[in-house]
Amino acid sequence: MHRRNLFIAGKPTSLFTDFQMEVSGAPILVQSIAQKDVQSAVPPQYIQPPENRPTKLANENATDHKIPTIDLCKDKDLNLLREEIEKACIDWGAFHVINHGVPNPLLDEIRNAGSSFFEDLPMSERLLYACDSNSPASEGYGSRMLVASDDAVLDWRDYFDHHMFPLSRRNPSRWPHSPSNYREVVEEYSDQMKLLAQRILGLISTSLGLSSSFIDDAMGELYQNITISYYPACPQPELTLGLQSHSDMGFITLLIQDNVAGLQASKDGEWVTVDPVSHAILVILGDQTEIITNGIYKSCQHRAITNSNKPRLSVATFHDPAKTTTVTPAFKPHKYHPVLYGDYVSSWYTKGPNGKRNLDALLI
Ligand code: OGA
Ligand code: NI
Repeated sequence: MHRRNLFIAGKPTSLFTDFQMEVSGAPILVQSIAQKDVQSAVPPQYIQPPENRPTKLANENATDHKIPTIDLCKDKDLNLLREEIEKACIDWGAFHVINHGVPNPLLDEIRNAGSSFFEDLPMSERLLYACDSNSPASEGYGSRMLVASDDAVLDWRDYFDHHMFPLSRRNPSRWPHSPSNYREVVEEYSDQMKLLAQRILGLISTSLGLSSSFIDDAMGELYQNITISYYPACPQPELTLGLQSHSDMGFITLLIQDNVAGLQASKDGEWVTVDPVSHAILVILGDQTEIITNGIYKSCQHRAITNSNKPRLSVATFHDPAKTTTVTPAFKPHKYHPVLYGDYVSSWYTKGPNGKRNLDALLI
């Protein structure tokens, strides 16, 4: 069957309606598509238009194409640390941190808890935790967090989203019961990520001559979500994306991945693979950091590609303001309109990320 032609003729036709009828009302999960052995080809809804498909990378090994690594060890000279942060934020909007103070076993435990949920529980049990697929970013197990409209091309990804802060949003009874330490690990990880995010936001603030609590104060009450993403092996990685190109909406994302590469960051118009570094944590600047720094630091545009051999797992922890918070540039003249975070989130979910289009709309 020539699925490619189906796509080029217009929007993909719904040949694969059987995939949409798994359990009525339940989300359509990529993992169940990937497991159907009839699948030597992906359903047309997952086929990216040619301009978005991953291509071979030209400069895979060039050293200026490696995301920077910053050592956060406690006795390091603060001026040096701020200089390294400043350079990484200007050049990339993303960097790895090592000696970050988060215990390495905890990083392994949350990855193991996640892969146990996706790989050891039967689908019928996983579906007990299904998110509400009609409301964006609802807590639980799903696949379509970023999808703006019914015609949007779908990401080759399933996820479990956890609401962590403020504590009034936290309800561990909605999270997986197994493995038995799942909930404990997620809560411990959440606290550690919060502390690290605050430390890094402090360094980012002082690297710009602002007081160390400047961004944290502007963020106000912290909204933290933890999303464990699972990218099943994909029969046609050259046609699909695990996660479409986007920048994260909030202030700062802390991400760990397993040892299967797939995350790419955009640097000077090229896609660069972020090599997995075991026990390093990837810091990704979000759009609110770009706004508050008046564009001195840019949010990092990124995406995930798929591969045909191995599933891939990542854990992303997002740090966002309340929807009632307005974020305003800290420097004049303002290059961005101040934005009510709730409006920003709504436009992101209705229009889709499409790279950085929502942020570009705020440029003065
Ligand atoms: C995200 C994200 C990348 C990854 O969840 O926003 O960019 O590697 N994830 O899973
Ligand atoms: Ni992201």
